[in-house]
Amino acid sequence: MNRNHSIGLLDSGVGGLTVVREIFTQLPLERVVYFGDTARMPYGPRPHQEVRGFASQIIRFLLTQDVKLIIVACNTATAAGLPFYQQEYDLPIIGVIEPGVRAALQHTRTKRIGVIGTPGTIASGAYEQSIHRQDATVAVYSQACPLFVLLVENGLVDTPEALCVAEEYLRPMRDAGVDVLILGCTHYPLLVHVIEKVMGPHVTLISSAEETAHEATDILTKEGMLAIEAPIRHRYFVSGNPGPFTKLGAALLHQEFETYQILLP
Ligand code: DGL
Repeated sequence: MNRNHSIGLLDSGVGGLTVVREIFTQLPLERVVYFGDTARMPYGPRPHQEVRGFASQIIRFLLTQDVKLIIVACNTATAAGLPFYQQEYDLPIIGVIEPGVRAALQHTRTKRIGVIGTPGTIASGAYEQSIHRQDATVAVYSQACPLFVLLVENGLVDTPEALCVAEEYLRPMRDAGVDVLILGCTHYPLLVHVIEKVMGPHVTLISSAEETAHEATDILTKEGMLAIEAPIRHRYFVSGNPGPFTKLGAALLHQEFETYQILLP
């Protein structure tokens, strides 16, 4: 392993690209290898054990691509087994839950925090447990938002339909008076405009993407593994049809790229 090896990221689809976008901003010299498991998306409604198996399979693929750090850029896969991946594989692996929790605790004044995520993430209680490990006095309001991922993957982010769905999911959060809302799914920062519209200007939205990129920076800095040469090109892989992923991804990252399909066994 050397400092010019890549950062590997995985998600069920385009959501983890919100973390890639932050890596490009915070760590422009780093090379990225990304895997979107689009053939098996969404992960949210699947049992934890199944998601853990998918994530392990992808980690093994990423290990064939010269990676020095892996980011499980998916809350559902993080909730399903981050300690398991960390124990199983011999390189730094980080998830997206702890970084978001840290930022939420720094921002809340009223100690009323909202968490939105996929059904799998919310059912795991991972956010609530992590928040309460650090501050047991915080009131946590959780809400699963299963349609959000489908709106994003189908390119329907700034539409009246998205606003209507957001209104339905988020009204209870707004009524509960949360002052911080954790976007506990890497797809959700793509819906930030409608979420902001529903929650109003006084609620701070926490994107796990930004916070996770900070954590990656810290780890690579501490280990002396920051890249020192600009990357030649990044690599993108999907398990399903590359077309829609490439189109959504190019709009999100503001750059053209090619995506290769890998059929996982
Ligand atoms: N982006 C993912 C997450 O953060 C997965 C969404 C899904 O496939 O349901 O949870």
